[in-house]
Amino acid sequence: MEKPYVYITRKLTEHIIAPLREQFHVEMWMEEEQSVPRDILLAEVKRADALITMLSDKIDEELLNESSSLKVVANLAVGFDNIDLKAASNKGIMVCNTPDVLTDTTADLTFALLMATARRFPEAMELVKHGEWKSWSPLLMAGHDVHHKTIGIVGMGAIGEAVAKRAKGFDMEILYYNRNKKPQAEEQLGVKYCDFQDLIKTADFIVCLTPLTPETYHLFDRATFRKMKNTAIFINAARGPVVKEGDLFEALVEKEIAGAGLDVFEVEPIGADHPLLSLNNVVALPHIGSSSIETRETMMKLCVENVERVLTGKEPRTKVKIH
Ligand code: DGY
Repeated sequence: MEKPYVYITRKLTEHIIAPLREQFHVEMWMEEEQSVPRDILLAEVKRADALITMLSDKIDEELLNESSSLKVVANLAVGFDNIDLKAASNKGIMVCNTPDVLTDTTADLTFALLMATARRFPEAMELVKHGEWKSWSPLLMAGHDVHHKTIGIVGMGAIGEAVAKRAKGFDMEILYYNRNKKPQAEEQLGVKYCDFQDLIKTADFIVCLTPLTPETYHLFDRATFRKMKNTAIFINAARGPVVKEGDLFEALVEKEIAGAGLDVFEVEPIGADHPLLSLNNVVALPHIGSSSIETRETMMKLCVENVERVLTGKEPRTKVKIH
């Protein structure tokens, strides 16, 4: 009997996928920095029993309809907005993600991005690198304080709570907006639930950590930015399309807000000519929220385990619930 076929859409660490190679026929797209081309993925899905996918792969109805033996799609991310869950469910295909294991790492990055934006790290480093540091001077690269300010977290999932923990250490007042209230977090972390409109008006730092859904698409548009304080700093470590990027650009140019720290963009990757990069009050990162060596390896292991379990008739560890 032929071994089940596993296709991995990006080069993963070989010793981590070894357990799959022992039991199954495994093929992998070997480019480290380039997504698998659509035509190759469309061909591979025809024979695949399992896919390990990246958040940059579009796993839509067209693709899933090409499959005949696919049982599981294991996405190397906590987010799964790249996958058509309904189409997967209609075909009886399980979808798995990597929750929990990346919570602290992503919260660290989010808070570091907030700090870097507030205290102007990239600009300050450019100054030093270009030999433009002339002397100590009273307002040289003066940024915004973080401690004792108000942070407003939009999307209070596990990562939101972990960011709140970090903010607590900086004596910040912590507001959050979420679909459901979080009484336990309110009690343990002292966070306060706040209506979205009040949060954007009140917070000094607005941190977007909400998943991308039809409801959150372009949640942050010109009208939203206009309501923020003009000293506000906006941080997005969730998904690019939650923000109407052209509107963010205008809001920054018109000084309706003071700065933005962005780990994600509407269309990724962005090029050096992206308009937001022309602004020195923008800190931009290449979607590296969960990218520590330890966490990325743990995420890979979880994907491997999920695939292994499904292909041997067991329940996966972290199945996405399809409503
Ligand atoms: C995720 O897991 O969804 C993150 O965006 C990856 O960094």
